[in-house]
Order: sequence, then C-alpha cells, then structure tokens
Amino acid sequence: MFRKFIPFTFVAAYLCSLALAADPPWLARSQTGMVASDSPEASQIGADVLRQGGNAFDAAIATSFALAVSRPQSTGLGGGGFLVAYVAKERRVMALDFREVAPAGATRERYDRLAAAAGAGPSPTIYGGNAVGVPGQLAGLAEIHRRFATRPLHDLVQPSIRLAETGFVADEHYQSAVKEALADFEKWPQLKEQYKHIYGTLLGSGTPPKAGDQITRPELAKALRLIAEQGPDVFYKGPLGAAAVKAAQAAGGVLALDDLAAYQPREREPLRAPFEGYEIVTMPPPSSGGVCIIETLNVLHEMALDFPGGLRGIHDDLYPPLLVCALKHAFADRARWLGDPDAARIPVQRLISPDYARRLADRFCPAKSEEYGTKQMPDDRGTSHFCVADKDGNIVALTETVNGVFGSLVIAEPYGIILNNQMDDFAANPGKPNLYGLIQGEANAVAPGKRPLSSMSPTIVFKEGRPVLVLGASGGPRIITSVLQVMLNVVEFDMPLAEAMSAVRIHHQWLPDEVYFDREPPATLVGILKGANKISTEHKTGVAQAIQFLPDGTLVGACDPRKGGRPAGL
Ligand code: DON
Repeated sequence: MFRKFIPFTFVAAYLCSLALAADPPWLARSQTGMVASDSPEASQIGADVLRQGGNAFDAAIATSFALAVSRPQSTGLGGGGFLVAYVAKERRVMALDFREVAPAGATRERYDRLAAAAGAGPSPTIYGGNAVGVPGQLAGLAEIHRRFATRPLHDLVQPSIRLAETGFVADEHYQSAVKEALADFEKWPQLKEQYKHIYGTLLGSGTPPKAGDQITRPELAKALRLIAEQGPDVFYKGPLGAAAVKAAQAAGGVLALDDLAAYQPREREPLRAPFEGYEIVTMPPPSSGGVCIIETLNVLHEMALDFPGGLRGIHDDLYPPLLVCALKHAFADRARWLGDPDAARIPVQRLISPDYARRLADRFCPAKSEEYGTKQMPDDRGTSHFCVADKDGNIVALTETVNGVFGSLVIAEPYGIILNNQMDDFAANPGKPNLYGLIQGEANAVAPGKRPLSSMSPTIVFKEGRPVLVLGASGGPRIITSVLQVMLNVVEFDMPLAEAMSAVRIHHQWLPDEVYFDREPPATLVGILKGANKISTEHKTGVAQAIQFLPDGTLVGACDPRKGGRPAGL
C-alpha cells in the first residue's frame, strides 16, 4: 500500500525528467570501485586514484583536495569534517572527528560582548575573524593518510594542483553560490572593502561567472604544492597557518599560532543502532546527526508499531505526519542536550535508547513545541559530502565544511585558503537562531578549545554484517533529514536509489515550528500535513551523496541531482 503511494505523491519533478529505463547522469554503476562527490572533477580525480590501485582512503584524500579547489563555496583547507569508515583489513568501523575548535581566545564573554555590540551589519559569527574556528581539515586528511593510505601524500595532491592551475568548470551551483554571497555585498557595501580579496577573486568583483567558465585558483595551487612538498605541518606550524592567523586577526579575530600547533583530530566510537534488521553506523557527538537520526528512527518505529505491518505497512497518510513528529522530538533534544562530548556530559545512550523512544512515542504529537523531547527548554552551501567504495571492501563516508557560503569570507593570503565560519555553529548568540535557524542549548555554548555542535552525518548501513548503503549530506540541519529520508527510502521502502534520492524531502527542526519541503510539494502531501502543522513556503534543500551495495556486488553511486555532482565508477 505504502509503496503504491510513494511514486505518485513523493516523487515529483526530478523523476519526470528521467527516462525510467535509463540511469540519470547523476548515477553510475561499477563492480570494482566508486566515488560519489558533489563535484564531477573531484569524483573523477578520486576514481583515477582507485584505477591506479589506490584504496578508498587514498581516493578519499585525493577527492577531498580536489573539492578544496572545485567547491570553494562548500569546503576546503580552512574548514573541517567528519569521517565514518569501514576498514576492511581490520574488519571494523571507525569515526574520525576533525571538526574545528574554538581558538583559546574565544571566550564566552567575548562572544556575549560581540553579540551585544552587533549592529545592523552581518553577525560577527558569520563573516570576519570572529567567525573562524581552528581549521581541522588538513590534520584530518593527514591522520587518514597516516593510518590507512597506500600512496604518498605528495601523489594524492598532484591532480588538485593541476585542477587549481587549469581551473574547474563553473556550474549552476557555483554561480548561484557566488550570487548569494554578492547579494550580501549589495546589502552591506562595506563588505567590499573588508573582504576585498575574495570580492576581487572568486566573487568576480561583483560579476558572477557564466556557466562553463574555467575558474583557476593559482594561489591555492601554491598552497597545495607546499603541502605536497612539505606535508601538513606547513599549515599547522608553517607559512600557510601563519597566513591564516594573520588574515583572521586582521579581520578582528583571535585565531593564534598556538591554536594551530595544538590542534588534534580525535578518533570517536561510531554510534551503532539496530533498525528493522539493519545496523546503522553513524557519527557521534560533536555531531548531532547520528543521535538525531537514531532517535527519529526509534520514535518512528515505536509509533508505527500501532499499525499492522509496522513502518513498512503503515497507512498511506501516516508516514509524513509521524516523521514530522519524530523529527520534532529529536531536534528538541538536539537543542536541549547536544554539544562537544569533551566539554559537556551528553546523554547519548539515553537519547538513542528504545525505552526513551517508547516514552516519546507515547506522547505522540503534542500541540506545543515545549512538549517535544525532554521537557525543559523552551541551505545547502558551505558543506560537501562524498562516499568512496573500493574493490577490497573499504568504505569511506566523509562530510566536510566551511559552514556558510564561502565561510567567513576571510582568505589566508597569498594562498587562497578560505577560512571557515564554524563559530556560528555554537550557541554564540544565546536564545537567537543561528545561520540555519537553530536554537541551541548550554551544552553548545562557546568555550576555548571546544568543538561546535554539527549536523554532519556520515553514515553506513549494514545488514547481517554486509554493507548495503553508505551516505551523507550537506545542508545544515537538513543534513539530518536528508540522510534519514534517503536511507528510509532505500532500506525500508525498497525504492531504487535514483528514486530515493529524487523524492521530495520533508524537514522539521522543532523550532521554528514549521514543516519545510525541498521544493513545491505535491498537494496531497500538503493536505496530509497541514491540519496539524504550519507549512512553510520557503523551500530549502539538503544535498546527499550515496553508494548502494546491491546483492550481486554492483556498486550504485548517486549524486544528489540538486547540486550537480556526478559519480565516477571504474
Ligand atoms: O556542521 C554543521 O552542521 C554545519 N557547519 C553544516 C553547514 C552546511 O551543511 C552548509 N550547507 N551545505
């Protein structure tokens, strides 16, 4: 019944444009290796590494360097990320956290003062030096390389040096990101002087690129060459880091050389949870993604038990409202409880326990926002996710971010490294929504050395010990709802991956108390939800990348049609 309903109501515009028999261009098949990233150039560079005998970790490192060139609006050496991986030779899953941390000078008092003094201009945690967290990206790639790679780092950087010199192709996503940044420069003309380097280079002095333009990044090529020749210390103890510190301080921030020297990635124990015969393996705090995904799945499962056939057999009209309810519980708990596990006690096991889900499900869908989650507390741009699978069974899910579009706009000159604005992921402005409209709690207050809470959710799904799906997304809090729904569409509702990716996505993040869709939703879906929910007319989207492992050994790679990525198979 449910499956009959899905194609007619959830699958709209994208699917219409697909010839049902043929794979769309954003989907690829291979028996031996696959890279699915949101940039065609980066997927190709990663797949070349696999083709030359590198493993999934080699390919992931090369893909990530390439993304630093071709997706400057989303990621790069001035950002940070999370990895969830299956390491075939050790037969285990692992998680690596190379999230930014707050600089030692980033005290709560400083950010309270900044929030109080903020005038009519953009928030100080969005643009400028105070937005910048200590970048973890290169330390993360170096750690992945040290532990799992088979090729010299030098070789894995080379293709990206060439890409930076010859240029990547400006696509629609890049054009619209530039336009979005320029809209702020129009609104606040002082930005043109404050961030004149990025304005004069990537932002084309106010003229967005045309689709198909080749965008070269000679300064970044210089930085990549130094990394290839001297290794990652060139950032954490050398000239690239010194340039980042100089730029962040000149833009009013407190990033210091000591912060860079002290930065360490952390291995984390991935969250593992059973779900309807599958095992979900995903990112723990300081991501909120894993906790929210598992809590939502558990609540959905409990609610669906009241219906014949459980979640699979659920009545046509019930999945969307139950999903919204379950999301509201999970996002309310995100705001109440989650933050850096090294700085606050986070009750992860309680939040992901079936008992807790049962109690939330018993409350069903309360009318008031305060009644979601533990009762106490009142768009895709700056992130990139990719997946890699190799012939030996290694699997990589890696999400990386500079946070907002082109991060803080601050550039480490003359190396073209865009510094993140991850400080906005803290509850830096207490009680006020951040860039993604999220209200956050005490556990996520700013403190020196602390990691800001994230939504990034690299995830691998297993069945009886064999991988069935690896995925992740970009899009702020929509990362969580995108990963969750693509995963449910595949593992629970048996949709082919193309359909699972294209289906309309529902988003609710507790506050604001509104249901969002990624595009104009079918009238039937609005009809089902509008009685109990306020429906937002604002459409924003997460962007997912995934690889499915079919029983016959085929790898199906898919890049969300919403951003323009292309998978590359062998
Ligand atoms: O870590 C986080 O949750 C955010 N910095 C992610 C931001 C994001 O996904 C932006 N859009 N692509």
